[in-house]
Amino acid sequence: MPPTITTVLPEQADAVGTLVYESFREIAERHNFEPAFGTPELAQFVVRLLAQTEGNESYLLEEDGRPLACNFGDERDEVVGIGPVAVAVDQQGHGFGRQVMEALIERSERNGFTSLRLVQSAYNMQSFALYHRLGFEVRTMLAIMKGRPPADEQPAQAIRDYTPADLDACDALHRDVMGFGRRHDLEMFASFATPVVVERDGQIAGYLTRFPGEDVFVMHGVARDERALRDVIIGTAQAEDGDMAITIPSSQAETLRWAMAGGFRLGELGSYMVRGDYQQPMGAWIPSGFY
Ligand SMILES: CC(C)(COP(=O)(O)OP(=O)(O)OC[C@H]1O[C@@H](n2cnc3c(N)ncnc32)[C@H](O)[C@@H]1OP(=O)(O)O)[C@@H](O)C(=O)NCCC(=O)NCCS
Repeated sequence: MPPTITTVLPEQADAVGTLVYESFREIAERHNFEPAFGTPELAQFVVRLLAQTEGNESYLLEEDGRPLACNFGDERDEVVGIGPVAVAVDQQGHGFGRQVMEALIERSERNGFTSLRLVQSAYNMQSFALYHRLGFEVRTMLAIMKGRPPADEQPAQAIRDYTPADLDACDALHRDVMGFGRRHDLEMFASFATPVVVERDGQIAGYLTRFPGEDVFVMHGVARDERALRDVIIGTAQAEDGDMAITIPSSQAETLRWAMAGGFRLGELGSYMVRGDYQQPMGAWIPSGFY
């Protein structure tokens, strides 16, 4: 039987998570970078979460029951966020990555999505070439960083915990800044850790979501400007111990300089790649590992 594409069933999460862990580890180690998934368990958790979440589509290329490649497309909001894309280490370079990407693009287009996005490691020639050939373009470079702001640094404006009553205002702010809403993604991460919001003149001027753990994975956020963005980063550090893993678009030069001067280390560079519609952000933003 030739390889066929199906979806990832929750009971396949361990096997597919192991494939993701191993393929990301191999390419990272080959380039002397830290792997995106520190443990197989983390990759398995992410795959299980994506396979179980309604609106997250999965693409599994299998041959005789063996997973060869996988891909995931987040269709819950208005933009399709992609990843992780992975091909088994001994199966790379045979067009399987292209197959799972084409399946995702075809479905997304059929469902009327006009903007597909992903975050790519800049050292990864195979994935850059593949995405570029499929019509994705780099919109900004990303600084993928780890650390914490100085312990005595205080936000310039009032920060507080997000509550579910803030959902509409945060979603509207995201639309103002990025040109599209993101309420389902925000709600999901709010169920893992309470996001931090910053207020200005009684209005929400920024928010930041995260996934807690030994290292805190900062997910997406937006703010009216870089000052408000830095406030929610400081607020997130105050809410959690441990290092923060955060991705800062390099176009936000002031925030990037602030982060590096204050104790964040640049671990690698990434590319924010978009296929289809893209509007220049009208404010400050932090992408998640997906978009
Ligand atoms: C990246 C990855 C998904 C690509 O899948 P793959 O099956 O190995 O790649 P494919 O054979 O489908 O396609 C690669 C394409 O890039 C091209 N390519 C690869 N390296 C290239 C290079 N250095 N310069 C130009 N083109 C290159 C190939 O020719 C091919 O083009 P084509 O489809 O037009 O023929 C896979 O290698 C992988 O799993 N890597 C480890 C995990 C990872 O990096 N995931 C992506 C994270 S962003």
